[in-house]
Amino acid sequence: MKNIIVAIDGPAGSGKSTIAKIIADRYSFTYIDTGAMYRMITLYCLDNNIDFEDELAIKNVLDNISLDMQGDKFFLNNKEVTKEIRETRVNENVSKIASIRIVRENLVNLQRKISQGKNVILDGRDIGTVVFPNAQIKIYLIASPEERAKRRYKELIQKGTEISYDEVLKSIKERDYIDSTRKESPLMKADDAVELDSTGLKIDEVLDFISKKIEEKL
Ligand code: DC
Repeated sequence: MKNIIVAIDGPAGSGKSTIAKIIADRYSFTYIDTGAMYRMITLYCLDNNIDFEDELAIKNVLDNISLDMQGDKFFLNNKEVTKEIRETRVNENVSKIASIRIVRENLVNLQRKISQGKNVILDGRDIGTVVFPNAQIKIYLIASPEERAKRRYKELIQKGTEISYDEVLKSIKERDYIDSTRKESPLMKADDAVELDSTGLKIDEVLDFISKKIEEKL
């Protein structure tokens, strides 16, 4: 039987990873958090003072680092970086790294490779448009910037981060702008994706919708 690929795309904070994790658990699918991959490359470049504009240096980084994911833990060159990849400095720079073509080519290849022979659910920005244009299920999950900022703000405050709601909203809007206007694989709804606005939906409604689609294919 053909493996099932579920693609969930959408802007930062729309709830993609929450949904993808629950669905992966429910059906024993492999969950691939593609944003975390861009984050790990960003972290490496920041820690090693790599100039984002220096294409040769970036290529070197890509040829020499290993990215690994085990459950909800992330490893960069065998060192766990699960917390570090969510730091503000990474949030502020990841869009720049994600707009570099060789970075995207490299990570898209990796995403395809680790999905081989499995039922997978991937979340990102270009899964339904570029990584797996033939995915059987494509969801484009959105929510208003204010709603997304509210959720992110709550998360950060719970973690003890000192930040204001306005700063979070500003950063979400900036990230949306860069992600959707970049030249390389901009954030975009695939023509055949179903758009769900989670601002007006309960999480269970989104989960039920996707679950039904999966069960039709199993
Ligand atoms: O989903 P996230 O917030 O962890 O993503 C981090 C950044 O990576 C975000 O600015 C967009 C980018 N990204 C991307 O360009 N393509 C993906 N498939 C996943 C993330």
